[in-house]
Amino acid sequence: MLLYTETPIKIISFQNKEIASFLKEKENHVHADTINSFGEEWNKFNFFSENEIQYIGNEYFDVVQPSDLTKEMVALDLGCGSGRWSHFLADKVGFVEAIDPSDAVYSAAKLTQEKNNIRITRAGVDTIPFADQSFDFIICLGVLHHLPDTANALAKAVKKLKKNGLFLLYLYYNLENKGFMFRFIFTLANLVRNIISKMPTSVKFFLCEVIALFVYIPFIAVGRFIKVIFPNKNYYKKIPLSYYIGKSIKIIRNDALDRFGTPLEQRFSKEEIKVMMENAGLGELRFSPNEPFWHVIGKRIHL
Ligand SMILES: C[S@@+](CC[C@H](N)C(=O)[O-])C[C@H]1O[C@@H](n2cnc3c(N)ncnc32)[C@H](O)[C@@H]1O
Repeated sequence: MLLYTETPIKIISFQNKEIASFLKEKENHVHADTINSFGEEWNKFNFFSENEIQYIGNEYFDVVQPSDLTKEMVALDLGCGSGRWSHFLADKVGFVEAIDPSDAVYSAAKLTQEKNNIRITRAGVDTIPFADQSFDFIICLGVLHHLPDTANALAKAVKKLKKNGLFLLYLYYNLENKGFMFRFIFTLANLVRNIISKMPTSVKFFLCEVIALFVYIPFIAVGRFIKVIFPNKNYYKKIPLSYYIGKSIKIIRNDALDRFGTPLEQRFSKEEIKVMMENAGLGELRFSPNEPFWHVIGKRIHL
């Protein structure tokens, strides 16, 4: 466990645990509606089974070599949400500091309660309460595309990494590797997201469940059918949402809420992500050829 660089603004008591909060009233990289929305999301989807965590965790970590991680390492999970990837990482490194600015910290504290080498802290990218160059490994999965200035937030986060430390990043792709139909459906979906994400919580939750049931599941069923008919071909990947074939209903419902319930979302091409990472001081980038796009690991080569 690392030392905090400053005194917490408050200490929250939760289930015999204490969660230090460093959240300031006004933070540059905070989009208040988005953070509230995530607090609600992770309190709804606050439990993931070991199988779910391992299955999807292995997809994100396919760019991490087993030899990249050791029990001596201290890791940061930036924007930990439910804490599922902290949980995944805890067996592979020495200690995980997990931070999130939203009410998700309560779900994270609950999900990770059995792991003694995880500490949950309430903070955002602007208030990371650890010294620069503190971490051997940082994960930031599905977070920075929900911030107004992704490049600047990434640069701030990379400062917390030691020289030669590793940064695992996942940012939504802008569908540059997909065809016209895919993009068209996505444009429609984005319009719908803009409307749904502004609705009251209960209506938003309901509509996202409807989308999971009547949009996600049918597309996934078509993808699965094509996969069964052409088991040796990749045709099914042409179907939107085929990524969810084999994923649990809960993951599908959670992701539908994530996609349609979040007010701020940005998307980047592989090249844009490469430039942002290099500008932040990362190099030796390895993009995964597999979904979810794009997840990539880089090493801090410049201080
Ligand atoms: C889609 S969730 C991803 C959570 C987790 N990384 C995962 O993949 O399960 C995005 C998370 O980013 C957090 N977040 C939003 N703004 C942030 C900020 N300024 N700094 C750090 N995290 C932030 C949200 O509270 C939310 O929990």
